[in-house]
Amino acid sequence: MLHILNHPLGAHIITQLRDRTTPPATFRTLCYRIGLLLALDATRDLALKDEVVETPLEKHTGQALAKPLAVIPILRAGLGMVEPFTDLFPDVSVGYVGLERDHETALPRSYYQKLPPLADKRVLVVDPMLATGGSAVLALDALIAAGATDISLVCIVCSPEGVKVVEAAHPTVPIFTAALDRELNAKKYILPGLGDFGDRLYGT
Ligand code: PRP
Ligand code: URA
Repeated sequence: MLHILNHPLGAHIITQLRDRTTPPATFRTLCYRIGLLLALDATRDLALKDEVVETPLEKHTGQALAKPLAVIPILRAGLGMVEPFTDLFPDVSVGYVGLERDHETALPRSYYQKLPPLADKRVLVVDPMLATGGSAVLALDALIAAGATDISLVCIVCSPEGVKVVEAAHPTVPIFTAALDRELNAKKYILPGLGDFGDRLYGT
């Protein structure tokens, strides 16, 4: 269920994101661009239904997206990945799950949640970093409790440890990522990684 982005532009952008000298303004632009590639990758299998239109010449049976979408960023870093989805899918609903990792224990704490109805939607959870997997599992649990049944997780960088944890807790949830990195360090940061995504995105 792990899908790793396979596009040269993805490899180019992720290297710039990793570069410690990349300033927040550039980092945000790069996050948007890689978000576009990931949004396309994660929605390849969307269902279509017939839609009849009239071209200037004749009637034509074309296609339209069959199922509404919801994008759910995990605050705060996930916010950087919302715009690619709202730009590509203007009708998408947006919900929010606020989680914060404790700096000492690396365990996530929930501090906010605001969700649209999810039962009838393809739900795309966006969070750039999948490290221990604790935040992703907590978010997925919350979305399933809120009625979501068709969920994908979209990340920019994953650790092997985090992928295992999510796959064990939610084996039917596909994970889309731009990079599968080597390992976590003792402080549960991803190596080689790109540091603290939220701090780099917002200059904190
Ligand atoms: C980061 C990241 C994920 C989480 C991943 O958020 O955006 O949500 O860590 O770590 P995990 O897989 O070990 O749970 P953080 O808690 O730093 O909050 P922020 O987005 O507000 O910076
Ligand atoms: N969160 C981040 O922003 N970076 C990591 O490497 C791990 C968790």
